Amino acid sequence: MTALTLSTSSAASLRADAVVVGVAKGPKGPVVAPGAEAVDKAFGGKLATVLETLGATGAEGEVTKLPAASGLKAPVVLAVGLGEAPAKGDGFDAEALRRAAGAAARALAGSKKGAFALPVEDAADAAAVAEGALLGAYAYAYDKGNSNGAKNGKDGKDAKGDKDKKNNGPLAEVALLGAKPRDKAYKAAAERATALVAEVNRARDLINTPSNVLDPASFAAAAVTAAKEHGLKTEVLDEKALTKGGYGGILGVGQGSDAPPRLVRIAYTHPKAEKTLALVGKGITYDSGGISLKPAGHNETMKCDMSGAAAVFATVVAAAKLGLRVNVTGWLALAENMPSGSATRPGDVLSMYSGKTVEVLNTDAEGRLVLADALTRACEEKPDAIVDVATLTGAMVLALGNRTFGIMSNDDAFRTALHEIADEVGEASWPMPLPADLRKSIESPVADLANMGERMGGGLVAGIFLKEFVEDGIAWGHLDIAGPAFNESGPFGYTPKGGTGSAVRTLVRLAERTADGDLG
Ligand code: BES
Ligand code: MN
Ligand code: ZN
Repeated sequence: MTALTLSTSSAASLRADAVVVGVAKGPKGPVVAPGAEAVDKAFGGKLATVLETLGATGAEGEVTKLPAASGLKAPVVLAVGLGEAPAKGDGFDAEALRRAAGAAARALAGSKKGAFALPVEDAADAAAVAEGALLGAYAYAYDKGNSNGAKNGKDGKDAKGDKDKKNNGPLAEVALLGAKPRDKAYKAAAERATALVAEVNRARDLINTPSNVLDPASFAAAAVTAAKEHGLKTEVLDEKALTKGGYGGILGVGQGSDAPPRLVRIAYTHPKAEKTLALVGKGITYDSGGISLKPAGHNETMKCDMSGAAAVFATVVAAAKLGLRVNVTGWLALAENMPSGSATRPGDVLSMYSGKTVEVLNTDAEGRLVLADALTRACEEKPDAIVDVATLTGAMVLALGNRTFGIMSNDDAFRTALHEIADEVGEASWPMPLPADLRKSIESPVADLANMGERMGGGLVAGIFLKEFVEDGIAWGHLDIAGPAFNESGPFGYTPKGGTGSAVRTLVRLAERTADGDLG
């Protein structure tokens, strides 16, 4: 991963491939943001004018590269847009800093060192710049030598045959200027950013890994390996144990695949913890739709259908790295949804782990089946709160678009808290209802429930189905990340193409707030 260093040097004297400065949209054209004074001075105080001449406006995400003036150690100045300049006396908001730093880091892909001279007034600003830059510097590299795919050689080349990956590797080092390296708050901010981004990137890597390499067994193995490294406890239920335990939902989804399902429990505990948070992730390593097969055009990105499990896994490891005073138990419901002679048919009835029966009307509504079993199991341990994360419905993407996840809950205050936490970390989300009238659409003539109901409000119907498997009295939240989990268009801000690591930052903040006791 990209290294982060805190530097006390001036922007003029630090040796780097480029010095990054901020430019904001002022009332009369672009204005150079604080932090870049030394750079502006090297341009005779005319950096804003030079930038305007080059067409820069300060718009969010805009990147302008120019040759450095004499007196600067870096050969290139990279000006990145911060959007509207804040009102006098106000600082830039954290998300504007994150996005600008991310856009700059992306523009520096392939370079060794970027000196970030963005506006940093306090440790929170430093955290935002560090986080944005490190998140933006991500690049996924498929590694043939590192994969367990049967068809892959061990020649150390990536899928593009690019042996040393020197072409487009991420920016190697982010030097953060304006921070105080000896100040505790800045040091803590840098350490948190490094740990947090490493875990967001863990989720991104898992999501981007093709389904012929990442199947339920190899996903579970990755969790066991990471758990050993970070002192976490794991339990893996394989298909035999799942059968013995009566996990009909997970088994029913996984039975059509040659790669059998798994349920992983990965737990972080703190000796002085007062609260336990349970996190449940949908981990469909590939969603073909099963017998209710998805048409071409709807299955190309379905390796991303384990994004919820990836976010949960990453969050548990992050909690351990940060040493949070809270117990965090992750449940990864892993299966591959495939059509075959052994697959579940539409019309089949599954006996779930909870004891309820479910008529499978559509095998493509598989996420709620694996989650139902994992939710029931998670509730047995009586956590103080439980949050599931899932790329659950296309309906949620239709409702909220590609960048916003939906939040549902059995507890209004908890839903509001989750929404506020997501806002705080810069993840777009919106509260969604669980209207009681939709419940009747999942009634079945032959079973306790059907796995599909009314098409209208399909994301809410899925939420209502899940609620049936949550014990009354436990605060439960459901994040439907089908939109933001996987970015099919171009990169923006600190968000790369492909797996985004959606929900990791929200969940880590939730764990921190639970540890701090400021959540009910
Ligand atoms: N994994 C999909 C949902 C999805 C859609 C994720 C688009 C990411 C992007 C899920 O398993 C699914 O197929 N849901 C169905 C449910 C329906 C059959 C009730 C859907 O949304 O169409
Ligand atoms: Mn599906
Ligand atoms: Zn799915």
